Amino acid sequence: MAGNPDIAAALGSVPFFSGLNAKQLKMVAESGKELSYKTGDVIVQEGTMGVGFYMVINGKVEVRKGSKVLATLAKGQFFGEMSLIDEQPRSADVVAIIPTECFSLSTWVFSALVRQHPELALPMLKELAKRLRAAQSSPTS
Ligand code: CMP
Repeated sequence: MAGNPDIAAALGSVPFFSGLNAKQLKMVAESGKELSYKTGDVIVQEGTMGVGFYMVINGKVEVRKGSKVLATLAKGQFFGEMSLIDEQPRSADVVAIIPTECFSLSTWVFSALVRQHPELALPMLKELAKRLRAAQSSPTS
């Protein structure tokens, strides 16, 4: 597969993948797939078993738990990592709120990538800590 140079460039421009060189980015781009969603499409459903890690390439998604919006994620932000890390069902719904393109990696590609490039775990941990802090400071209802 030739790979999509636009995807490799898009991945390289986000902090999560910024530690990878051009060859590695090309390899990651070739290992995943681009997915397009319409407004309202449920990309990840709470309670289901996760099989993918997603990076928003274009568009916007909402992370929802019941009627509560936990976060809005846009270009360069990722989701779906929690189920891949702890092998538990998806913790929330993730819904496209405008037409959205994501880059998705399967569980095994994601795991192999983090094993080969442990430095990828750091920005992910940083983001997890940020999300935990935000969840702790939001009022419970
Ligand atoms: P996962 O549990 O696999 O599927 C739902 C995803 O929503 C989850 O991974 C995270 O990527 C994301 N998510 C869950 N809770 C939050 C939150 N409080 N803030 C931002 N994203 C979240």
